[in-house]
Amino acid sequence: MNILVTGGAGYIGSHTVLALMERGHHVVVLDNFSNSSPKVMPRLEALAGNPIPLCQVDLRDGDTVFDVLVSHKIDAVIHFAALKAVGESCEQPLQYFDNNVSGTISLLLAMQKANVLRFVFSSSAMVYGDTEHETLSENTPRSANNPYGRTKLMIEEIIQDHCAADTNFKAAILRYFNPVGAHPSGMIGEDPRGTPNNLMPYLCQVASGKREKLSVFGNDYPTPDGTGLRDYLHVMDLARAHADALDYLQSQSKNLTVNLGTGSASSVLDMIHAFEQANKLKIPHEIIGRRPGDVTRLCADPGLAKELLSWESRHDLLQMCADAWRWQSKNPEGYNS
Ligand code: NAD
Ligand code: UFG
Repeated sequence: MNILVTGGAGYIGSHTVLALMERGHHVVVLDNFSNSSPKVMPRLEALAGNPIPLCQVDLRDGDTVFDVLVSHKIDAVIHFAALKAVGESCEQPLQYFDNNVSGTISLLLAMQKANVLRFVFSSSAMVYGDTEHETLSENTPRSANNPYGRTKLMIEEIIQDHCAADTNFKAAILRYFNPVGAHPSGMIGEDPRGTPNNLMPYLCQVASGKREKLSVFGNDYPTPDGTGLRDYLHVMDLARAHADALDYLQSQSKNLTVNLGTGSASSVLDMIHAFEQANKLKIPHEIIGRRPGDVTRLCADPGLAKELLSWESRHDLLQMCADAWRWQSKNPEGYNS
């Protein structure tokens, strides 16, 4: 298939471009580089062994998106492009609703006009909000507690309404838990701008000496060691799931909503210990207060993804930590190294 990957220069998108090409698909990347670097493209082409067409376009420019869909004879779209920082979304909610929600509507309208009928969307465990549930199945009630999460909730509903109205249009909604790690080559990985918000890139920068120590946000949560629990999954496993979801849409011609996680929760201290063990390093850290907006626990029930897609995570925490560190140590300044 000819596949347009929006946000294909970003962290998860870039890994997915390779997974799709390995399955024989032709991929076109669309990105406005608001949170990524064009320098990822030659690395992707080297890893894939093929050129990858790139369109520097903003999603909200619907006419140009339409031209891209038509000129590249696109059969399916995998839609990663979004802003994703929770804290920033509380400070700039309008920018988040405009970029994420309006951007998706603009893309869906362009797809409708170009008669592109297959769509895979990056949703998030954030749609489950602050929940008491031990593990989250797809029918756990949804509620977001920040503007970023609300953009994902709204987009899920827009997609569902569009699927109901046009039964030829088939969509997969993938709810990611916490993706970490990098391609085993160490050539592509997560390259956050400025100070990292997320645990793994911060851990990597402490390990490299770029930051003095990791702040652990709270040890008074109702968890075994008091720190927050998350379901971390390897970005290579997550990338593969997109190719599986696309195969499902093609072979079953049904819509799909699935969680993508491992089904096991790790605490912040578990992650520090796994990183130290995998990479034979010490991570200086201190416990500070909770980060506003954080939830205690987010852990997937990944049973439905196994049942419908035969998808399961294959990498453990030690592999996630080893691959994240290989990328960081080979590229201390990310794509500017
Ligand atoms: P990322 O920021 O690395 O990638 C997103 C890409 O989209 C970037 O390259 C950015 O330049 C591009 N982009 C943003 N707005 C755009 C626009 N209007 N037009 C064109 N391009 C635009 O983020 P990521 O971690 O790869 O996340 C990909 C998707 O997965 C996002 O939708 C995110 O919300 C979702 N997600 C991420 C996580 C996570 O922890 N990384 C977890 C759950 C869901
Ligand atoms: N944490 C620290 N110190 C840090 C960073 C994080 O202790 O410097 C803790 C957090 O408090 C939390 C855990 O590490 O307990 C994970 O935090 P992240 O920021 O790495 O991830 P979140 O679960 O907060 O959010 C991430 C993405 C969202 C996505 C969500 C899905 O940022 O976009 O995972 O679960 F939706």
